[in-house]
Amino acid sequence: MYVDRKPSMDLEDIRETMIERLNSNQNFNSIEYFDNLLKFVELNHIYASALEEVSTKLKILDDEFQVIHKHNPIHHMERRVKNNRSLLSKLERKKLPVTVESAKENIYDIAGMRVICNYIEDIYVLEKLLLKQEDIKLLKRKDYIKNPKENGYRSLHIVISVPVFLSKKTAHTPVEIQIRTIGMDMWASLEHKMRYKNTKKDTDAYMNLLQECAFEISNVENKMQDMHNDIEG
Ligand code: GTP
Ligand code: MG
Repeated sequence: MYVDRKPSMDLEDIRETMIERLNSNQNFNSIEYFDNLLKFVELNHIYASALEEVSTKLKILDDEFQVIHKHNPIHHMERRVKNNRSLLSKLERKKLPVTVESAKENIYDIAGMRVICNYIEDIYVLEKLLLKQEDIKLLKRKDYIKNPKENGYRSLHIVISVPVFLSKKTAHTPVEIQIRTIGMDMWASLEHKMRYKNTKKDTDAYMNLLQECAFEISNVENKMQDMHNDIEG
């Protein structure tokens, strides 16, 4: 059911982040920097726990749905905690202080989940059921299904805050959830791959093809949804 995209504590990631900074700055205080990095490692644990909480909530909803409706809204889920390297680069790119406090306040996608659904309606059913839970707070919502991006990208994005109960405190932690169908996921994976590959072929031609595919996938999904609703009565 879950696909963890990387181990939660990635020592290689921490090592490389440290080496990168050491090489790039002459007046670099390595002890101070190392202490700062350790705080990021602690942070990593809280976000991994938040992912665990949200995964469990979604799994319970999916299981209940199967019992009541004989249908699983979730095809599968993927989750990851942003690695330290990308988190530090994102802070730098956004010209924010490179501290744990600033990451907590400003970066909403440190914990990220992708929930891949069978049908479009499953997406909104899951969203509604999750947001109804009294310990969950909605922080941000973008519906790229109702309003697809210009390139054709479709998905529902929500950022929620979930409480993580630790021994000394409760950490209300943001988790970014991208909810999409199998078709939307297939499209996004290829589009992402194309963006990061330097293809020799004309990029414009690909962009048009991708837009067309997004449109066709959407048509197919609507037809499949209608058929599914028909047979379920
Ligand atoms: P950031 O601070 O850049 O993360 O902005 P944001 O979180 O407000 O952006 P948004 O919610 O639009 O997108 C967040 C994530 O959605 C990205 O990191 C991607 O995983 C995914 N995404 C958004 N747009 C696209 C797209 O055009 N193609 C693909 N493949 N993925 C996208
Ligand atoms: Mg993001």
